[in-house]
Formats: sequence, structure tokens, C-alpha cells
Amino acid sequence: MVDSAGRQALPLALHTPLLDLLGCEVPVMNAGMGGVARHELAAAVGNAGGFACLGMVREPVERIVDEVTAMRALCDRPFAVNLIPSATRADLLQRQVDTCLQLDVPAITLFWEVDQDLVRELKRHSLLVLHQVGSRLDAQQALRAGVDVLIAQGVEAGGHVRGSVGTMALVPELAAMSPVPVVASGGIASGAGLVAALALGAQGVSCGSLFLATHEANAHPLHQRRLCEARADDTLHTYRFYRNWPVAAATRVLPNSVTRGDHDHLRSLREPTVIGTQDDLPVHLFSTDSPLRDASGSVTSMALYAGQSCGQIDTVLDVEARMRTLLSEAASVLAALRRDDSGQHLQDGAEPPASTRERPMPRETLVAALRELLAAERAGARTAAACHKDAYGHAQREQLRQLHEQEVRSCRALLRCLASLDAEPGQAVGDFYQKVMALNTLQERMQLIDKGQQWVRRRVEKLLAQALDDVLRQELELVLRYHGGAQGTSG
Ligand SMILES: Cc1cc2nc3c(=O)[nH]c(=O)nc-3n(C[C@H](O)[C@H](O)[C@H](O)COP(=O)(O)O)c2cc1C
Repeated sequence: MVDSAGRQALPLALHTPLLDLLGCEVPVMNAGMGGVARHELAAAVGNAGGFACLGMVREPVERIVDEVTAMRALCDRPFAVNLIPSATRADLLQRQVDTCLQLDVPAITLFWEVDQDLVRELKRHSLLVLHQVGSRLDAQQALRAGVDVLIAQGVEAGGHVRGSVGTMALVPELAAMSPVPVVASGGIASGAGLVAALALGAQGVSCGSLFLATHEANAHPLHQRRLCEARADDTLHTYRFYRNWPVAAATRVLPNSVTRGDHDHLRSLREPTVIGTQDDLPVHLFSTDSPLRDASGSVTSMALYAGQSCGQIDTVLDVEARMRTLLSEAASVLAALRRDDSGQHLQDGAEPPASTRERPMPRETLVAALRELLAAERAGARTAAACHKDAYGHAQREQLRQLHEQEVRSCRALLRCLASLDAEPGQAVGDFYQKVMALNTLQERMQLIDKGQQWVRRRVEKLLAQALDDVLRQELELVLRYHGGAQGTSG
């Protein structure tokens, strides 16, 4: 199936609720690789339907301004900026955050130790916050601070590695405890990996090495070539790259003179040894900076980050081709998994099982009603997020934050309803947002939001009066609950 833009239509199983939360079309994001993921890569990922992330760790604010501006000139999709608080001086971090707020960046991805105050500050400004974590403990702290998405990084990941558990074990554990979507990261470089991650409970994947091997990445060609040549067991988990990071931190890299210990006698020198330049700055021996496209000097002695996923990556491609391959592989894997008991493939568009056909309410009517509700709820989520910005006082902000969360959860429940009917969710967004925002005062807007909530409630109650299967009934009861909770905004 091909959509109006000539792209392969996304199989239903890949259309996870995360897409509505992030505003992207496919459940794939690029990891915010410092230096490597600049605007060319991020824009290409966004334009290919993925969720884009600019890697801005320790970057001066002027570069953040330039990269965000360049990104916006190439791509009009929402995107994130990646920052790492523990690897950044406090004064620079504050300036980076202020700059992101001034630029009205829609989302931030954070990594390493959880800075709960920072998460709360970003949430107070209504940004989406994604946090990459490597353990249950970090996940709990991130959730307590109010993050919107957890990125579960397995020990097979390239670059800095936070935890010690593999992706296969970490993702289901975090997905089971997390009220927010989980994204899997580490070891994923194929459509099969994407499907596996979703099967484990993730709603998307974040890939680093896979996007490092693209023409748009700002990585040195030697680094890309070494990554394409390497197999999974070539990578090393090491503490030998430490300059720039104030804390001892493990990295996963390809072997070189530093990992062999050839320069260990230089570790005790007070003055760092310069081994090259990039971005018009010196690169020091043992530095955590990986070689960028313009790097010169001893590139082979720099940190050649690579995840175990490198065993699945053989060539450097354009992002668009990379994404197309990944999605078509995922579609093939899903098709192969959809064999019915007689060994026949259940093709897209094939008659659904009798249990779904023999509903008292015609399937088409039910699907249309669910799509209409979904469109209304998407508009509701957008409206709540917009009104949150104008709210005054903690109580009102909290009320609107809760409302936004409930609308997003309600969208997820409706998406699951449509998926259980084998129906495409569609992209429609209702006109409720325009109607609410045309009103002048927050009080008038809240009154209309209240009416909108009552409308949804009535619609859902009407559907629940029909004979429905258990899955639909449970999901719709959830939607009803989300519209009966918040005082003052519920019907
Ligand atoms: C070259 C490179 C640089 C990275 N830099 C960052 C970074 O600046 N910030 C961050 O949050 N993660 C960074 N990571 C880690 C990724 O977020 C992610 O966990 C990892 O790439 C996943 O494993 P994979 O490489 O097998 O896809 C980096 C990874 C690589 C390969």
C-alpha cells in the first residue's frame, strides 16, 4: 500500500501512540549524537517521517541557535535537542536551556544522571521531555520528575553506556512499570529489531550507529568505514575515554591505540596531548569527542563509538534510503508473523475474523465513530497544551497538565480500539483547537473545553451501550475514565 506522498503506508502495528505524542509518522528516532547529529542528519530523519534529535551536548549556545535555525529551514516537523547535564558545566547548561526555551524548541532529550530540577523546569515550560536511562532506578527518578518518554538504553549501545542490562531485558521491565511510552535503544539497526522492540513493549526505537552510517551524519568517513566493517563482537566497553566528562563513564567503541593502552603513559600529564583538530578546536588524547567530518590529525586515535548493532550495518546510505529499508523490512517481518493457523498469510485488507465481523453495530460505523473521537481527542490534546502556556498559578497549570495527559492517554486507547478492528487510524485532527483559541479569555476557553469533554463523554457512553467485544469495551471505559477525573474540566 502506498500513501498520497508516494511512501509505503505504515503497517498498523508500527503506528504506536508515541507518534501522536511526538508528532512524527514512524516510530524511529535518531539518537542525539553530539557533533554527529547536526541539522543535516536531524532534518533528513524528520523529513523521512522519524523523530529528529540534534546532538548538542556541551555545544556553545551560538551553535544551538545556528543548528536549530538551519534545522527549521529544512524541516517543519517537531524535533528534540539532546543535552547531557552531568557532562556540562552548570553555567553552560543553564545558558543552553535558556536558549532552547527562547527558541521555543518543542522537545529535549536528556541522558545520564537524572537532573530532576531540570526536568521539572522544562515541564513547567511545557516542553516534551524524553530521558534516556540505563536502569530501573534511573527510570524511576525520571518518571518521578515527570518525563514524557523513557528511552531504555541497553548495554549493547554505542557511545556512552549508562547501565549494564541488555535492551532485550531492560525494555520489557521498564515498559511494565512505566505509565509513559518507552523507546528502545541499543543494538537496533533493522526492521526486525524494530518489530522485536515493539513486541517487548516499546513504542519506538532510537538508533545511533545506524544513523552515523549515513551521508547526512557529520561523522568522519574513517569512523563510518570502521563501523561498517565491524562485527558485533569487535566493539569494546571501556572507561579509557574520559576527558570532557567529569564523572567516570563507560563508552562502547571500536578498538584503537587508546583502547590498547598504547598511550597510557601520557595519562598522568597535567597538560592534555593534542592529537588533532575539529570544529576549529583542538582534540585531546582520551577525549570523549568522536571524529567529525572535518577532523584532521590522528583520527584513528579518537573515540570511534559504535554499538553492537554495527554487525548489521554494512554501508553508508542516505537517511531516506535507510529509513525506507528499515520500514519495508519491518513490514515483511510483520507479514511473516501474521500467518494464520493453516499456514496462510493474513494479508492487509483480508477479511477480519468472524468475531470482529459479526458485530451488531456495523464495523464501518464503529470505525467512523472511533476515528471521529480520535480526531477530537487529538485536537483536545493540542488545545490543553496550548492553554497550559497561558495558565496562571500552580493549581490551574496542574489542572491543564493533567487534562493534556488524559487527552494523550485517551488518544492511545482509541488507537488501540482501531488497531483491534484492523482499521487505519487516519491523521485527522478536529477543529476544536481553532474554536477554543478564537476565544479571548482563559475562562471562556476552559468553559468550552468543559463542553468538549462532555461531548466526548456522551459519545463514548453511546458506544458502550452497544454490544462490543472485551478489548473495545475496556479501552472505551478507559476513555470515559479519563474524561470523568479532572475536577472542573470534566463533564
Ligand atoms: C557516535 C555516537 C555518539 C553518541 N552521542 C550521544 C550523545 O551525545 N547523547 C546521548 O544522549 N547519547 C549519545 N549516544 C548514545 C545513543 O543515544 C544511543 O544510546 C546509542 O547510539 C544506541 O545504540 P546503537 O548505536 O546501537 O543504536 C551516542 C552514540 C553514538 C554511536
